Amino acid sequence: LSELVESKPLPIPPLLEDLDPDPNKSEFHLTAQQGTSEILDGVESETLGYNGNILGPVIRVHEGEKVKVKMKNNLEEATTLHWHGLRVDGENDGGPHSGIMPGETWEPEFTIEQPAATLWYHPHMMEKTAKQVYEGLAGLFYIEDEVSESLAIPKEYGVNDFPLVIQDRKMDASGNMEYSPNMTDMMRGLYGNAFLVNGAISPYLEVPKGMVRLRILNGSNGRTYNFSLDNSQKFYQIASDGGFSEQPIEMATIRLSPAERAEILVDFSQLETGEKISLINTASNLVDSASDSDDDAEIKELMEFVVTDKESGVNEIPKQLTEIEPIDPSSAVKTRKFIMEGMGTSLTINDKTMDMSRIDEEVDLNATEIWEVSNQGAGKNGGMAHPFHIHGVQFQVLDRDGNPPPANESGWKDTVLLQPGETIRLITTFKNKGVFMYHCHILEHEDAGMMGQYEVQ
Ligand code: C2O
Ligand code: CU
Repeated sequence: LSELVESKPLPIPPLLEDLDPDPNKSEFHLTAQQGTSEILDGVESETLGYNGNILGPVIRVHEGEKVKVKMKNNLEEATTLHWHGLRVDGENDGGPHSGIMPGETWEPEFTIEQPAATLWYHPHMMEKTAKQVYEGLAGLFYIEDEVSESLAIPKEYGVNDFPLVIQDRKMDASGNMEYSPNMTDMMRGLYGNAFLVNGAISPYLEVPKGMVRLRILNGSNGRTYNFSLDNSQKFYQIASDGGFSEQPIEMATIRLSPAERAEILVDFSQLETGEKISLINTASNLVDSASDSDDDAEIKELMEFVVTDKESGVNEIPKQLTEIEPIDPSSAVKTRKFIMEGMGTSLTINDKTMDMSRIDEEVDLNATEIWEVSNQGAGKNGGMAHPFHIHGVQFQVLDRDGNPPPANESGWKDTVLLQPGETIRLITTFKNKGVFMYHCHILEHEDAGMMGQYEVQ
């Protein structure tokens, strides 16, 4: 498919205007709407977007700020607006209980009480999340704070600090990318045959020499990626889902499952002007093997960076980024167990599928708890990996199968991938009241009910 497409510059989503002049407050307006996007040249596909035809603007807020959002639903069906990774009360979290009927407006309000991070927003209607995200509803949500503002790292939006929303889509040669999952997609999570970055297929980005910051979101429905650069160059991860790691972590490849984020610094200073390097996916199962178009079987390139003679202004990597106070496991008042099981179309957590009228777990406000999550799926293929996500908190991973987590999972996380047979222990303090979800973030699994509810009071 990429051969049918003339490479376009990477679309950079606009920063959403803050309509409140008070520096300690902000007000943002979003409209979910239908549109069309020319993803394959000359073909208009029907897509959904916030304030546009596909995806949404980047919302940027500051720690301590009071935020008000007016979210208008101009779709023909109900939707919700969920703040993935945000510490917020259940009422403002935008989960499946916060349906916005067509023509209506939802007005959540919250105060930002967490450190700088790259979060995101997306719809969360029961049984409709996969379709609505796939059709284009997703956007990034940046939190800045004194740490992010004082560090000597790239922070000029669209200049040396770039958002990359990575998604795969299943397109036929005529450019149709309608959401029509087959049985394999329902069981495994949808895998596409084309990679989109910020809504464009195989785009290119002109980058300055020096350090460039990439804020990567895996916004795909089902696919897990291993991201690398095709010249084998190393890069530095500086943030996970919920914010900066203590130190930059040198890596050659980074794995992101659906909904996970990473901020990385790439040093383009050693490259010649005009040189091109590509961001590639080295994970196996590159394309949908069940699709009929095997001519795409080798596609692994996501996008290209073209080095210019501009300077990024940052040439070094700070040694220390922030400090993260580890949560002491002995402060936990409870350990809860969660068993994720996926066999064919039966996708459960603790043997149950989602029921909106049932609270599965009651948590005390301000309690610190350990959640022990196991992936015990053992279908024909030995089961599959599931990314586990908890709403309303950022957590710390205590261990994976009893071993300390890798360095890049030692900071704040809100989504973790569990391989078949794996058990993860995570710890968090529940500081916000209300009803929240925990679920598998493969959207087809979530929609099939691989989700539960906890209530904090
Ligand atoms: Cu990204 Cu329940 O959400
Ligand atoms: Cu799953």
